[in-house]
Formats: sequence, C-alpha cells, structure tokens
Amino acid sequence: MRSSEDFWDSNAKKYAKSPIKNMAAYEKTLERVRTYLSESDNVLEVGCGTGSTALLLAGNVKQITGVDISSNMVGIAKGKARDQQVDNVSFVHGTVFDGTLQAGSFDVVMAFSFLHLQEDMQGTIRRIRELLKPGGLFISKTVCLREKTRLLGVLIYLMQKVGYAPFVETLSYADIDDAIAKQGFEIIETGIYPPPARFVVAKKT
Ligand SMILES: C[S@@+](CC[C@H](N)C(=O)[O-])C[C@H]1O[C@@H](n2cnc3c(N)ncnc32)[C@H](O)[C@@H]1O
Repeated sequence: MRSSEDFWDSNAKKYAKSPIKNMAAYEKTLERVRTYLSESDNVLEVGCGTGSTALLLAGNVKQITGVDISSNMVGIAKGKARDQQVDNVSFVHGTVFDGTLQAGSFDVVMAFSFLHLQEDMQGTIRRIRELLKPGGLFISKTVCLREKTRLLGVLIYLMQKVGYAPFVETLSYADIDDAIAKQGFEIIETGIYPPPARFVVAKKT
C-alpha cells in the first residue's frame, strides 16, 4: 500500500478540482460548527486538505492553523489564502504530532474526513486532546463505512492493494463516538451529515 503522504500528494490537484458532493450537508456542517466558534478562538484543523473549510471559517475566529501531511495540499491551501487575502489562517505541512503545535494552546480542534484515515486513531485523538486547552472542543466529521454494505469495504480494500485508495478504517457511528469518549471527551452533539458521515462535537474533560 502507498504511504498516506504519497497518496494525498498525487491526488491533491484532482481533490482541489472535485466539487463538494452534497452541498446541503456541507452547509449544515458549517452552520453547526459556527455555533461553537467565537472571535477569540485559536483553532487547529488537522487534515485541512486544500484549506477550503478553514478559509470559510476564518471570519468566525481569531486564528486558524491548518495542518496536513501532504505538501501539495498545503501548497494549494496557501495559494487560496493568498488569493482570498485571508490573513488569520496559516497552513503547515505536517501531522497532528508536529512538535511546533503547542500542547494546551487550542480552543477548538477540527477534523473533517480525517479520523477514518488514521492507522492509530486512538493515538491521534489522544494527541488532539493534548493540544486542546482545558474545556476545549474537538469537532469531527468522519465517514463510517461499516454503516454501508460489506461490498463497499471489499471494494476499498482492493483499491488500497493497487494504490487507488489510502488506508481507510471501516468504522461504525458507535466506533467513532466510543473512540472519542474513551480519550477523555464528553460528547455534546452528534449528527449525520449525510449518511454515513458522523458529526461529533466533544468537550475535553
Ligand atoms: C479526505 S481529505 C479531507 C480534506 C479536508 N479536511 C476536507 O474535508 O476536504 C483527507 C486529508 O487528510 C490528510 N491526512 C491524512 N492523514 C494525515 C495525517 N496523519 N496527518 C495530517 N494530514 C493527514 C490528507 O493529506 C488529506 O488532505
């Protein structure tokens, strides 16, 4: 299987051009996220991709840092921030474990279409908790393929074998909720926008 970085680097241009599949669900997600943001917030988005969501939310917060394992994704995101003249967003090539990200420094950490791509999902959520201030929020939306047919899981497995798909964990809605709660979060909101994408807002306890 190809490395995650390699996969996303080769797919960054195509990803940037692909339209959002369900605009109503995306807008619903943004609407719910905005209700938790405030103008004084220091926000981190992990797996920020080409930066579209961070740029749309930048006006609602003080500062957003987007981090992504793919330098090509980050390059596109930086270009968009320049073109849109958004100056409270910075994009960084790296992972959630990047040493430049300071523990206890973020009011909100966001992860959209991200957790199911992590081989060490528990370790990733633990690190996200570490990066949050006391009482900080983790907002996640994750595709849960276990809620679909087994056939889809088999198809993705085969695509991974030939390099057409990255690592993908087959999760249920309960798997995601449990994994987040297990790392010391209180779940305060859940939703499905659209099936099988689980939206979770959780507070660091
Ligand atoms: C499906 S895309 C989602 C991008 C964006 N969040 C969105 O909703 O459009 C997944 C992104 O996560 C990034 N990614 C995957 N594993 C990562 C990791 N361990 N650390 C940082 N970024 C990662 C990929 O490079 C890719 O940009």
